[in-house]
Amino acid sequence: MGKTSRTVLRPGMILLKGYISLSDQVKIVERCRQLGLGPGGFYQPGYREGTKLHLRMMCLGKNWDPQTSQYGDHRPFDRAKPPNIPVEFLEITEKAIRDSHVLIGQDSKRVNPEKILPWMSPDICLVNFYTQSGHLGLHQDKDESEESLRRGLPVVSFSIGDSADFLFGDERDADKAQKVVLESGDVLIFGGKSRNIFHGITVIHPNTAPRLLREDANLQPGRLNLTLRQY
Ligand code: SIN
Ligand code: MN
Repeated sequence: MGKTSRTVLRPGMILLKGYISLSDQVKIVERCRQLGLGPGGFYQPGYREGTKLHLRMMCLGKNWDPQTSQYGDHRPFDRAKPPNIPVEFLEITEKAIRDSHVLIGQDSKRVNPEKILPWMSPDICLVNFYTQSGHLGLHQDKDESEESLRRGLPVVSFSIGDSADFLFGDERDADKAQKVVLESGDVLIFGGKSRNIFHGITVIHPNTAPRLLREDANLQPGRLNLTLRQY
């Protein structure tokens, strides 16, 4: 695992590097594999116009349908009900928001951190697996409820496995975007004023995953990303 650090990237956007311990990363990989092979497990999603996303996906809690950009209780193509979100994922999310509040409080002593980064209770977890050629174009996450978006309830993202270049900015324009490298164990949070950022994954860096994940958890070459949200 890389070095640990905690950084405010923008108001409401926090990067917790090296946040998830290797043993927890192994547990997450094993849980995702177990759930991913069962009903409602991994598949390669496609958009309405027929193009496929360059990743495999599984939804926990609620189903997100890339064809309609809507959430629902079942996924339309096989009626599978998404598995529940494992409690360990919820615990890491809660701790990451709490630690981000501490960081925001240190950054600007006069403000209430919850005004900058609101609390949320996840009822959705999207799990993406990128092979080493996987990527995801710049987009905004805006399919959650109007209230969730209006309040800026954060998206909390876990990265596990190979590192990736994550672009973010105010426009759907890669040339104007900033880049951070997300490594295994990193948690990225974007809420509050940063909830609507454009973001995407341009490159997966092959063979950068911690060896233990490959050897102990039998993680395939590539990157696992979990995003937790509140509808
Ligand atoms: C997403 O935007 O849904 C996923 C981002 C990531 O893979 O880090
Ligand atoms: Mn997204």
